[in-house]
Amino acid sequence: MWKFFAKKNKNANINIKIDMSNIPSHIAIIMDGNGRWAKERNLPRSMGHKAGVETIREIVKECNKIGVKYLTLYAFSTENWKRPPDEVNTLMKLLVEYLRKEVEELHSNNVKINTIGDIQELPKVCIEQLKEARNKTQHNKGLVLNLALNYGGRDEILRGMKLLYEDVKKGIVSIESINESKFSNYLYTKGMPDPDLIIRPSGEQRLSNFLIWQCAYSEFWYSTIKWPDFKKEHIHKAIYDYQNRDRRFGGVESE
Ligand code: FPP
Repeated sequence: MWKFFAKKNKNANINIKIDMSNIPSHIAIIMDGNGRWAKERNLPRSMGHKAGVETIREIVKECNKIGVKYLTLYAFSTENWKRPPDEVNTLMKLLVEYLRKEVEELHSNNVKINTIGDIQELPKVCIEQLKEARNKTQHNKGLVLNLALNYGGRDEILRGMKLLYEDVKKGIVSIESINESKFSNYLYTKGMPDPDLIIRPSGEQRLSNFLIWQCAYSEFWYSTIKWPDFKKEHIHKAIYDYQNRDRRFGGVESE
């Protein structure tokens, strides 16, 4: 049924040519607006989330096609447990359904599935499905699809600090040797580049505890488009805008 409503979206009429030699390595997306999208159409919030999964399908495919190396999707935050149990259940079910339906195709397209966040707190069926998906796709060399689940930036930093402290206590790491790059190795995103581009649809302009260590020099791109209406054309527009920004990393303007 959501497809009927989605067809009415006229916002995707964007024809943008992106520079294929300057594709951001890591794009991170705060998927937002599913609930409002549904409300605007007098639908239950669950329909908004369902429509949101269709957007995930399209965006993952497109990012893999254009050569993005890492795509991190904020799918469930440490704060999302505050939502009504029915909604939490719907989100978990959609996650399992997505993995069951998509893993084969993602695998054949060389996508590697990964998670960030404490997935041990998720329902058993989610943990099992995620482990299966990660194992199956672990050797793939295409897009790394990073699902942020039960993820919170502050929680990640605290967890990293505790792990680092353990290594200091064991004498594996000396206090003097700790620097930013070493600390990064204690985060869920160990070994991954920081996000070049963070996208948030739906009009909100905040980070909501997403990748707060990693986003120090990320470019932000906001849009009022709600996630279920977000199409590949929007990702192209975000990349196009990113390509036209001057990233100085605290230095001076490039010549
Ligand atoms: C934001 O909309 C969306 C989410 C918090 C959940 C996104 C997750 C899924 C669609 C579940 C499936 C996940 C995968 C990876 C397949 P919102 O509810 O905050 O919208 P609102 O701000 O308009 O209420």
